[in-house]
Amino acid sequence: MNDDPKEPKLLDHEADGIRELDNNLPRWWVWMFYLCIAYAVGYLAYYHVFKVGKLQAAEYEEEWKAGEAIKSAAIAKFEATIATMQPSRDQAELGQGQQVFMTYCAPCHRPDGGGLVGPNLCDDYWIHGSNFVDNVKVIINGVPDKGMLTWRGLLKPAEIRAVASYIYTLRGTTPPNPKPREDQAPKAPAGPSPFE
Ligand code: HEC
Repeated sequence: MNDDPKEPKLLDHEADGIRELDNNLPRWWVWMFYLCIAYAVGYLAYYHVFKVGKLQAAEYEEEWKAGEAIKSAAIAKFEATIATMQPSRDQAELGQGQQVFMTYCAPCHRPDGGGLVGPNLCDDYWIHGSNFVDNVKVIINGVPDKGMLTWRGLLKPAEIRAVASYIYTLRGTTPPNPKPREDQAPKAPAGPSPFE
């Protein structure tokens, strides 16, 4: 055993003839270790003691709010143009609209638009108005009481216009077994409603 601190020390244990040297750790490693400790103290003070920095949850919240603001601004801009909006005839846009329709709308309106839970979109009879603009408004606002979802914020404005344009192309088609026209639901009897 060598006692000179500058010399590597051979430790006294042994396993299957393998011996171990007790070398000094390299200086760069030791300094890095001290640096890590200093960094941890700084980190703790910055985020948890003085709370100067924002933690992940707060940063997420902030970015989420910024994202929502962008989204509502885009929707508001879109809604301001609805009144004069025309159905698109652009094939790419109609293709996108068809894709949206098949994914989100077909379960209730049937892939051919013939109607299932939701009304037939191919005939000439409409509950909420027959104009293209009426359709766009129903899609964006929904009719929550009647089971038509509100797509505001779920679909992008461009997707809403695309899907409205796509269903516009279904008008006048004659799918088999369509849902009967729904503009003529029996009127409620006169007088106070029995449910009130
Ligand atoms: C959960 C079922 C459901 C889904 C999904 C759904 N709808 Fe509807 N939709 C309905 C119902 C129910 C109505 C009828 C509302 C009423 O009676 O006022 C309706 C009404 C409509 C109307 C108005 C029809 C009229 O006669 O005025 C349009 C247009 C429409 N939906 C388009 C869409 C589009 C486009 C999508 C997909 C983005 C979609 N719907 C998804 C159930 C649904």
